[in-house]
Amino acid sequence: TTIDSRLLRAELLSFEADPGEGDTPAAGSIRHIPDGALWLENGRIRAMDDYARLAPELPDGIEVIDHRGKLVMPGFIDSHVHYVQLEIMASYGRQLLDWLNDYTFPEECRFARREHAEALSDAFLDELLRAGTTTAQVFCSSHPVSVDAFFGASQRRGLRMLAGKVLMDRHAPEALCDATEGGIRDTERLIGDWHGKGRLGYSLTPRFAPTSTRAQLDATGGLMRNDSSLWLQTHLAENTGELDWVAELFPGSRDYLAVYEQSGLVGPRSTFAHGIHLDQEMRGRLAERGANLAFCPSSNMFLGSGLFDRLAAREAGLAITYASDVGGGTDLSGLATLKAAYQVGQLRGQPLTAWQGFFGLTLGNARALSLDDRIGRLAPGLEADFVVLDPAATPLLARRHARCQTLAERLFAMMMLGDDRTVLETWADGRRQHRREP
Ligand code: GUN
Ligand code: ZN
Repeated sequence: TTIDSRLLRAELLSFEADPGEGDTPAAGSIRHIPDGALWLENGRIRAMDDYARLAPELPDGIEVIDHRGKLVMPGFIDSHVHYVQLEIMASYGRQLLDWLNDYTFPEECRFARREHAEALSDAFLDELLRAGTTTAQVFCSSHPVSVDAFFGASQRRGLRMLAGKVLMDRHAPEALCDATEGGIRDTERLIGDWHGKGRLGYSLTPRFAPTSTRAQLDATGGLMRNDSSLWLQTHLAENTGELDWVAELFPGSRDYLAVYEQSGLVGPRSTFAHGIHLDQEMRGRLAERGANLAFCPSSNMFLGSGLFDRLAAREAGLAITYASDVGGGTDLSGLATLKAAYQVGQLRGQPLTAWQGFFGLTLGNARALSLDDRIGRLAPGLEADFVVLDPAATPLLARRHARCQTLAERLFAMMMLGDDRTVLETWADGRRQHRREP
């Protein structure tokens, strides 16, 4: 067997633990190597160290890629995004329920066609890589072919992805609705074909309480109980109109979260998108079960959903993840997500440090999604998914960068001013999969 081996020389930054909320990262929470070497071998990281320390150990003739002046970090993770909504991003008008009916549902009908699903899967993955995102938890449409197309495209590129077929058996156009049991059978077939295949994992995907009957939610809970290695993704308490509708549809549930609890959908691999309109007792119930809330700041502002209370979640011991929620979100870029999270935080008196933000996009998201044994850090044995950031990518960034004195300042400037131009290269599975056009 041949060994595929190469070395990157660059500034390296990786988180080892939550850096806390302070202006300086908690002791031992970061690993920062100004002149570092990242040694890749067969899709994994073999070593990460000072360049000067590693250089004498290297085999003769190993390829060395010189990225001095650039910053290498683990690939960004997006914990909640809809690939089928790529082309309806930035559709004008109103809040969640109207937006779903006017734009989202008609758009998702197009994914019954395999060719369309395949073309959009590739377009979406191109965009993710351009933004430096190497792993995402993805909503497909309710058509099984939309899931086959997405997993197939991800597998061909060797990407670590979680995804699932939307389950929906009411309150949507007929062309998108499952027969209650049929949607579950389709899900079982997709799990058998894709879950645990290479770098792929299946995430059970009931859209949200209003579009599933109790029978469908219960059957989804049954799948989850049968296989604890499955993930689950849905929406929770995003919009006040949605809250009223859920109360009306589920009069036997004491609150929105209880609808999911009663079907056994709340566990350590469950991601609930939004969770804006919750009280502290509900946050405590989520925390007790080890679930995570996906904070989707650009979507929450675009759809006028509300200001996520990040510190209340933190106080409850509840894990939060960072997510774009495209097409409700206005940007696939993790940097843009952090910028929006900072802005939401400012309006709440909860500003987000760059330490907390970049921890969230990498190790924080990996941990909350139970993927931290594979991705989320630059460390020996982990999979070689990372971004090469150019802190001086544009004339303006170069000017700002020249005035920064500390790493904290440089990170914060990138989080507020950066975009896909800041991502020089994206590597996944040990291979360069994107390089910015000059
Ligand atoms: N709630 C139910 N479906 C959706 C969706 O597609 N996007 C968002 N933002 N919220 C939802
Ligand atoms: Zn969503």
